[in-house]
Amino acid sequence: MNCLSPSILSADYGHLADDIALVDEAGAQYIHVDVMDGTFVPNITIGAPVVRSIRNYTDKILDVHMMVEEPARFVPDMAEAGADIITVHAEATRHLDRTIAAVKEQKVMVGLALNPATSLDVLEYVLPQLDMVLLMSVNPGFGGQEFIPYTIDKLQQLRQMMDRQGLDIDIEVDGGINLENVTDVLNAGANIIVAGSAVYRGDAADNVQRFLEIMG
Ligand code: DX5
Ligand code: ZN
Repeated sequence: MNCLSPSILSADYGHLADDIALVDEAGAQYIHVDVMDGTFVPNITIGAPVVRSIRNYTDKILDVHMMVEEPARFVPDMAEAGADIITVHAEATRHLDRTIAAVKEQKVMVGLALNPATSLDVLEYVLPQLDMVLLMSVNPGFGGQEFIPYTIDKLQQLRQMMDRQGLDIDIEVDGGINLENVTDVLNAGANIIVAGSAVYRGDAADNVQRFLEIMG
């Protein structure tokens, strides 16, 4: 099943509950929460206290994207705050196997994110442990950037890799996705679509409905 995960990075943090209700009621299946530490990426956003508050306003899947150095330090707090999926970056930890285990220990879903230029090779030994792979289609840190075209090839290769291994793991793509290019991203093998500026620029509920129509 294809799912839409609107990124609240482009919402109004002063009216977060309202902005989440808009996309929740319009039918988005996930809510994407971008956690940035100012070190792994050149921007700072929010942490577990805000996730804990958001949890009171939606029953949708809280899809927490940790753009944080050594994310295992924050995993228990984030799980306790109500995250349903915790996605860590392969580039952000020295001990990837241990970091994945730290998420699984919390009995939440585990995602592994790869920056655009990171090879799929890093997945070789850990893929069967994952619930989701997140391919970044922009360099993480900011909303509203241009989709990097070569990530379509990478996405096709990931889908083939999973098919060869008989694995049915979600593939999420994040960055620069809009109503014009979402079909290409789905056709290349993604089933979870993150969209920030393309949802929250203009009428968010209407934008969600348009995405969902295209996504089937
Ligand atoms: C970027 C974040 C994205 C961002 C996407 O570092 O991980 O989730 O919100 O925003 P758009 O859809 O505007 O590229
Ligand atoms: Zn994200």
